[in-house]
Amino acid sequence: MRVHESILELIGHTPLLRLKTGIPPDGPAAYVKLEFCNPTGSLKDRITYYILKKAMDEGRLKPGDTVIDNTSGNTGSALAMVASVMGLKSIVTTPEKTSKEKIDLIKSYGAEVIITPEVEDHDDPEGFFMVARRLAEENGYFDLNQYHNQDNVEAHYISTGPEIWEDTGGRITHFVCGIGTGGCFSGAARFLKEKNRDVQNIAVDPEGSIFAEYIRHNREIKGYAYKVEGIGSDVVTGALHPHLVDEVITVSDKDSFNRARLIARTEGISGGGSSGAVAFAMEKIAANLGPEALIVGIFADAGIRYLSKCYNDNWMRQHGYLPEVEVN
Ligand SMILES: Cc1ncc(COP(=O)(O)O)c(C=O)c1O
Repeated sequence: MRVHESILELIGHTPLLRLKTGIPPDGPAAYVKLEFCNPTGSLKDRITYYILKKAMDEGRLKPGDTVIDNTSGNTGSALAMVASVMGLKSIVTTPEKTSKEKIDLIKSYGAEVIITPEVEDHDDPEGFFMVARRLAEENGYFDLNQYHNQDNVEAHYISTGPEIWEDTGGRITHFVCGIGTGGCFSGAARFLKEKNRDVQNIAVDPEGSIFAEYIRHNREIKGYAYKVEGIGSDVVTGALHPHLVDEVITVSDKDSFNRARLIARTEGISGGGSSGAVAFAMEKIAANLGPEALIVGIFADAGIRYLSKCYNDNWMRQHGYLPEVEVN
């Protein structure tokens, strides 16, 4: 029989699928890793399961305890799902810009959701980051703290990296990944570099985020607001290991959203805005590569989370992202 006893057994081992959009036919092989095939629909199932299981195994957490974190949404549903299976309570803080679909999904797994105002400064006590830290401190909640938790990186070092290496038969030459906390990029990139130091690790950052300047020039600038969710940051995170970055590519909201929509309409792969950003960067990389190269990009979550956003024509038009004549 091929059966499973727990939803947690279905985390990881996500498929690699050929990507054609933007890749020259006589150019490199290009694949995307569909992290939306994880139970709650994003790569975050890997880190929440790894971190909570490790804490349980080490006696730092027990059933009935409360776990908390701040999130752009995906870690929220992953945390809530894993917590519910492990008999834990969960609280999530998230900013106003998080889509209704994501907030409803988090609640559907039984978590309490605290929506915080958009704040200028990361350290603003009213912002989702500081509210989570304060509540954890005041109530003794287990703080997942994904931005700085090295177990976030470890989760991808022991799962995402080895899966990519195995599923490409060790032929991968270029790894392309969006950076939010930086955990997925840093964990998988470290593993792939250990296997073959010639593998090129390409980080994808949205325009407006501070990461690109920090990675290129070790300078912390003031970022500006952008709409793509899950990647980019206004602070340097501990989960990002810049020494592993061979190249960083910045992508605009407009290019991210339009690429995600194009791929959904032409290849039936419905990813979120950060997947569009990764696919856009893969096109840039592929333009200078031949058939001997093999690119793998991370599609972190699914388009179904953004039906009221980048997959909504009015929303796209309102924000000036929809080109006059949409490519079909
Ligand atoms: C949609 C989306 N893309 C990409 C990422 C980046 O993942 P990481 O936090 O591991 O850098 C995230 C993280 O939340 C995400 O939600």
